[in-house]
Amino acid sequence: MQTISKPYLLSSEDLTRDDINLIFQRAKFFQDNYTPGSRFDDLKGISVALAFFENSTRTKLSFEIAAKRLSADTIGFAASTSSLSKGESLLDTLKTIEAMGVQIYVIRHGSSGAQQFLQRNTSGIILNAGDGKHEHPTQALLDNYTLLNHFGKLEGLKITIVGDIFHSRVARSNINVMKTLGMEVKFLGPGTLLPQQNNPWNVDFCTNLDEAIEWSDILLVLRLQRERMNSGLLPSIEEFSNFFGVTAEKISRKPELVVMHPGPVNYGVELDYRISTYPNCLIQTQVTSGVYIRMAVLSLLSEYLKK
Ligand code: CP
Repeated sequence: MQTISKPYLLSSEDLTRDDINLIFQRAKFFQDNYTPGSRFDDLKGISVALAFFENSTRTKLSFEIAAKRLSADTIGFAASTSSLSKGESLLDTLKTIEAMGVQIYVIRHGSSGAQQFLQRNTSGIILNAGDGKHEHPTQALLDNYTLLNHFGKLEGLKITIVGDIFHSRVARSNINVMKTLGMEVKFLGPGTLLPQQNNPWNVDFCTNLDEAIEWSDILLVLRLQRERMNSGLLPSIEEFSNFFGVTAEKISRKPELVVMHPGPVNYGVELDYRISTYPNCLIQTQVTSGVYIRMAVLSLLSEYLKK
């Protein structure tokens, strides 16, 4: 049986370097061999629930497409129309879905650690599709798979993560994966949105955008997670945009610079819309990679159900 080390994916810390390489190999296989209308049978007879307690476009749809391309039975779960509104707990909700024969759960939740709690209480397989400001492991996998396809290698690449790092699960998962794969990472953002007191990765800070552009091969730009912010963290959106917004003018002296963003993008705040059309802007490629990475993760984890 070829699979990853743990029978779930809750955190980027669950993944060894070998796990990540195996996921990339499987994603490449699906990318090279998928043709529209075709189906692989990796998840035939397996039921996958997509339970999103927070909004999503990219992650939810790409997991659904991925599961369907692998012949899974997919079950959508809309928190807002469920019996949660009648007082049912999160755990009872999981147990209810489990009693219907679901084996794989793709879960997004606003509380950090919700998926870890649920995994301890089920024999099913949980995939973390984003928990609070903690982790979003498949986003980090798809970001790095996109970079591997662009550069041909990852070791030694220099990346600055720009923006609201403190509230970003994408940043946390990416730092772990990028460090595991031998990349150099720096942060740039307003002092109130940097993990200054809690920086277990010992990541250095850039002082301004010009310095970040000069040093980096890649800028990974993040939106302001206003839904997770207390007031008073920023003087104004305009000031953030003036200091940290990535514009066409600012990056014009380095045409080879790669620009990424996990989406959704707030154009005009953290990123200039004109950059979205640049050949080195990989935002759409990231979305496409997401389908293949999620096919790979679902396929590899399904091996645990076939033992
Ligand atoms: N990148 C990301 O998680 O996007 P969605 O919120 O649209 O899923």
